[in-house]
Amino acid sequence: MNIVEPIGLSEQHDNKEPWYLPTGQEVEVFEQCHARQLAVLLKGPTGCGKTRFVEYMAWRLGRPLITIACHDDLTASDLIGRFLVRHDGTQWQDGPLTRALREGAICYLDEVVEARQDTIVVLHPLADHRRTLPIDKTGETVAAAEGFQLVVSYNPGYQRMLKDLKPSTRQRFVGLDFDFPPLDQEVQIVSQEGGVDYANAHALVSLAVRLRALRDRGLAEVPSTRLLIAAARLIDSGIDPKLACQTAIVAPLSDDPTLGSAMRDLVDAMFI
Ligand SMILES: Nc1ncnc2c1ncn2[C@@H]1O[C@H](COP(=O)(O)OP(=O)(O)OP(=O)(O)O)[C@@H](O)[C@H]1O
Ligand SMILES: [Mg+2]
Repeated sequence: MNIVEPIGLSEQHDNKEPWYLPTGQEVEVFEQCHARQLAVLLKGPTGCGKTRFVEYMAWRLGRPLITIACHDDLTASDLIGRFLVRHDGTQWQDGPLTRALREGAICYLDEVVEARQDTIVVLHPLADHRRTLPIDKTGETVAAAEGFQLVVSYNPGYQRMLKDLKPSTRQRFVGLDFDFPPLDQEVQIVSQEGGVDYANAHALVSLAVRLRALRDRGLAEVPSTRLLIAAARLIDSGIDPKLACQTAIVAPLSDDPTLGSAMRDLVDAMFI
């Protein structure tokens, strides 16, 4: 029988330093949380650097990183593990959470609000002083190895409606707020990651600042740093900047013709 991994699982073990530009005191706070065995909750809009930050911190702290993308089909067994039926009997296989506990890894659950409550409660004993995981199916209680840390993230206000974390979950975490970086830092990030010069990076970020102001005029999703980097990469590959902005920024953000034309006007004004 094949070993079935939950969709969206990834592991980072390599030694290459991920490039991360701090935008506040998040590195110091995270380091202290790690040293004091506190679980961390990262909040912030899509594409603002949460995943990159965790990759960087795992590298900096010298811990393996196990990332789990949460979704509403994710079960407690997907996290903890299950018995697999083999030709010679059944064999227990650890899930990614159990593995992270044994390895002393950083376990990062992305978009944690997408997971069901009965899956999320599994995290409770790991996110407080107990740091243990009882596995009912085997009778084992796994204690977290040195270095284990639980990190979760979500985008507040993102088509959430009824989805939210329960207070009993939230109050087990130290919360770090993420947002789009200040202009100068975002220019540096877009230039570094997108491979464009300062002038182009500055124009892209200035455009983003104006587009983000359109939120008040009904633009539900505003451009993230990730979209700016995509536009920068197109510019770096020789695509005309206006076309790069149209395809990489305007088109993904909205299908509304009025908003689309307002955004195009801003692009035209920025790249003459
Ligand atoms: N402070 C930063 N330092 C370096 N790169 C950054 C920073 N912020 C954003 N980036 C760049 O922006 C890209 C998108 O960031 P990332 O994937 O971490 O966003 P995210 O907050 O995890 O988004 P999502 O909520 O959609 O998962 C990164 O791949 C990286 O290139
Ligand atoms: Mg992410």
